[in-house]
Amino acid sequence: MNQDWAPETRAMRAGRDDNGGALAPVLWASTTYEIAAPSHAARIAKTPRVSKFYARHGNPTVRAFEDAMAELEGAEASLAFASGMGAISTILLSLCPTGSHIVSQRQIYGGTLQWLGVVAPRLGIEVTMVDGTDPGAWAAAVRPGQTQVILAETPANPRLDLVDLDALGAIMGPLKVVDATVGTPLGQQPLTKGIDLVMHSATKAIGGHNDACLGVVSGEKELIDWIWGYTVLLGAVPSPFDAMNALRGLRSLGARFRTQSATAHALAEALEGHPSVRWVRYPGLASHPQYDLAKRTLRHFGGLLCFDLDGGREAVSEFLGHLKVARVATSFGGPETIVTHPATTTHAGLEPEELAEAGISEGTVRVSVGLEDTEDIVRDLREAIEASSPTQ
Ligand SMILES: Cc1ncc(COP(=O)(O)O)c(C=O)c1O
Repeated sequence: MNQDWAPETRAMRAGRDDNGGALAPVLWASTTYEIAAPSHAARIAKTPRVSKFYARHGNPTVRAFEDAMAELEGAEASLAFASGMGAISTILLSLCPTGSHIVSQRQIYGGTLQWLGVVAPRLGIEVTMVDGTDPGAWAAAVRPGQTQVILAETPANPRLDLVDLDALGAIMGPLKVVDATVGTPLGQQPLTKGIDLVMHSATKAIGGHNDACLGVVSGEKELIDWIWGYTVLLGAVPSPFDAMNALRGLRSLGARFRTQSATAHALAEALEGHPSVRWVRYPGLASHPQYDLAKRTLRHFGGLLCFDLDGGREAVSEFLGHLKVARVATSFGGPETIVTHPATTTHAGLEPEELAEAGISEGTVRVSVGLEDTEDIVRDLREAIEASSPTQ
């Protein structure tokens, strides 16, 4: 495909090779395929990511989604999973043997944080957590010969802290893995910056309609094939139905992400300075501590923002009850504006001190801005804050 085309254009063309000319994604539901001869089976059973053998090895609809993702990431290959956590678990299990070491960041999705805090130690994998916004901290935590993986998330969920990918990509030795879920494949291109693997929870903006649970990782073919070997054994493979929905989602990702970014920007500006709002975090605000990095590296500032409401959990409960346009739920990147209370949902598994370290308080609210009219969303949140505010 023409590499001069913008990612928004490539998203419309990618992943159509096995479609028989159909414009919409084709659903291949079969879990198994006829085998011509034992010699044929012996060969394809060992072929990485073969799409017409057995469902745990691969599937043509899933393959179309993977091909589309590889195209968008500028990668040799991609591999899809049953969820974002399926991707993270399989990547780490396949790359990190007992006795190895991972460097990650404190500002990271709660599920990943729990994996690093609970699963890794049980397997004898050591983890060092750093402040991801401090480029020097990553390199300083690397133990030559032992650190197998550097795991970053940027922009990070929910406080939208950024990692300087140029600095991260320059670190030699460990494999550098970036969770780019919040930024989407259209927001940044980590593989162009020396990052080895970029992954997404495609359950979010890529699927884009709250009807697909999926993860995906992209990188060099040799590395993706290695991870595939573990996928077949661990079994966190995606449903072809979800891959079909994610492919459909990719086609409109550009338009959705652009609109959601613009509305999120307007909402962040409207909330900043409100007397009941202690702070607002959005990469497009000049008040974001890494605003310069955001301007330099993000193609879109994104549809996610968070803010801290005066009055803690009680004020948040009241605020949520007054929302009329936005829905209260857990996820982001869908067409509806979704408001989430991270302390009781995405980060509910964290101890209070871990929450504090991640910069999340009982008053922190995350907003995934949807596709509704900008003024309706801004008014809805403002009115709900005012109705719940002790100062009004
Ligand atoms: C940044 C990030 N990575 C990974 C995940 C896990 O994805 P999934 O819920 O698809 O397992 C999430 C889920 O919220 C997330 O926000």
